[in-house]
Amino acid sequence: MPRRFYITTAIDYVNGRPHLGHAYEKVLADTLARFHRQRGDATWFLTGTDEHGQKIARAAEAAGQEPQAFVDEMSQTFVAAWKTLGVAYDQFIRTSDKRHELAVQELMRRLSLARTPRTGEPAIYEGEYVGLYCEGCEGFKGEKELDQKGRCPEHKKKPKAIKESNFFFRLSEYDEALLKHIEAHPEFIQPDYRRTEVMNLIKGGLEDVSVSRPNLPWGIPLPEEIEGGQGHTVYVWPDALLNYLSALGWPQRTYCKWWLAKEGEPGGPGATRQDVFQELDGQGRPGAAWAGLGQPQFTNAFHLIGKDISRFHCVLWPAMLLAAGVPLPRQVYVHGFILLRKPEVKDAGDGSVQEKMSKSRGNVVDPVEMAARFGADALRFYLIDAIPTGGDGEFSLELFVEHCNTHLANKLGNLSSRTVKLVHNGYAGATPSEWAPDSFADPAVRGALEALMAAATAAADEVPKAYDELRLHDALASAWQAVERANEFVDRARPWDLAKDPTRRIELGTALNALLETLRLVAIWAWPTIPAKCEELWNVLGLPGAPGQQRDAAARPAFGPPAPRTLGQPVILFPRIDLKAAASGVPQPGPKA
Ligand code: MSP
Repeated sequence: MPRRFYITTAIDYVNGRPHLGHAYEKVLADTLARFHRQRGDATWFLTGTDEHGQKIARAAEAAGQEPQAFVDEMSQTFVAAWKTLGVAYDQFIRTSDKRHELAVQELMRRLSLARTPRTGEPAIYEGEYVGLYCEGCEGFKGEKELDQKGRCPEHKKKPKAIKESNFFFRLSEYDEALLKHIEAHPEFIQPDYRRTEVMNLIKGGLEDVSVSRPNLPWGIPLPEEIEGGQGHTVYVWPDALLNYLSALGWPQRTYCKWWLAKEGEPGGPGATRQDVFQELDGQGRPGAAWAGLGQPQFTNAFHLIGKDISRFHCVLWPAMLLAAGVPLPRQVYVHGFILLRKPEVKDAGDGSVQEKMSKSRGNVVDPVEMAARFGADALRFYLIDAIPTGGDGEFSLELFVEHCNTHLANKLGNLSSRTVKLVHNGYAGATPSEWAPDSFADPAVRGALEALMAAATAAADEVPKAYDELRLHDALASAWQAVERANEFVDRARPWDLAKDPTRRIELGTALNALLETLRLVAIWAWPTIPAKCEELWNVLGLPGAPGQQRDAAARPAFGPPAPRTLGQPVILFPRIDLKAAASGVPQPGPKA
């Protein structure tokens, strides 16, 4: 049975153009989505843009545009960027979509009917908010959350004091229900240390949160049924979070297709089942989503987000879902930040040498420009290979150039061009028919071939396992083990010498076949990360089909005499980047993909 995989990213604010931090998350999601598609899972990959709120309204004003015209234009810069980077989503949602707006109003209606799990009070009430608001975070701030200078530590700005009538969501009463769920489902928040952080936060006590704001016309109006709600718009976070459901058609039942999974699908027995959910909603009534479903269902949604917004996703979102009677997502995976080295002048004296790349700090790297200069796949490779999944990662031109030259140009690029050239020179581009590993007289050569085949066998198990377990850097490291063993084998076997001696044809053919098979496998393993380059390599290898379609036996090592085929012309897959020229902005040679 094909499995189902529903993956979402955070939807980006459109007050500026996409930067490398946004791109990192989308490339990570795209790599995972491609991995799942490649192995045959029915996959739905959702991304989009977050278009309401004060911050956007102000950016539109500064640009001298109406908010709708402004967001129409800005959201296209994200669409275009993801196209350039090969981010192949299935759906792009914008929170200014009419269908999304209607769904958000329905959520507010449901919340206004819900009762809290602990005291049975209405989940929504009207009250006065007196406090601080950081526009950068689009969030209310407690004094404790500010730095010594009274600023938001993230945006380095003092939040504004506000006093206004808001509708509140009684989040304070959802602590027990949330803790119970998190304890019962350790996979709900990943990596593990992020779960601990969230649990400590909840144990420290939750405060009720505002879910509407008055006098902010750029947002979704509260539905008329909510008494006293005239003139209020929904606070941007509930609005934005609901995208994960509204995109699937919620509140219509069709949303279950991706939100839920059946027995044996990725949600698996660890995820919330419909029978446990009845207890979890804290109200003794089954969630609307479960009503009438015969077969046991599991939750299936996988949210990929950055660490600055884990609270919203790991606390507010599940609490709202509990109140609205919707099964919780299967997992929130919290990734780290792309950091830059601080320019010395800007060192805030806090001892750290790195800082987050962000619009508010004005230190952003443009991913579209990087892709145009060095190739989208080189950028994708750096983001996935050089940054351990889940952790923070530094970005600089020096690190990027060094990493790509070492692993792409010198290791994989070199292996493929040497191999393909040798096949052209020795066999007029046709695959050799010889296969006799014992023909190598030198035991060191035989040993190197055995090491290569062992590395390929190990990678065939480890690569899919590591992608599946969100260790994307390990998946690539394991694939590159095979590349390195292959290069070592070339150095030992010296096929260019074998080619000069007609009596050593068997050794030559065997060596080339081992290298061709390694390249075929690497094209499959690396495809989720660097799809365009792997497809190019696949074509040069003269293989039928595409690397994204190889699964099961077709994705396992098959060293031996290959079915006869003709190779394409050798190409330089990854041109070496000259750091000096790159730093001075001189255009680099080579293909754009
Ligand atoms: N609009 C909200 C998300 C709503 S989701 C229901 C938002 N937008 S954002 O544009 O500020 O950030 C979008 C995503 O990019 C977040 O997951 C955020 O963590 C991520 N990144 C923004 N800067 C980043 C880095 N420097 N590094 C890595 N990712 C970071 O938050």
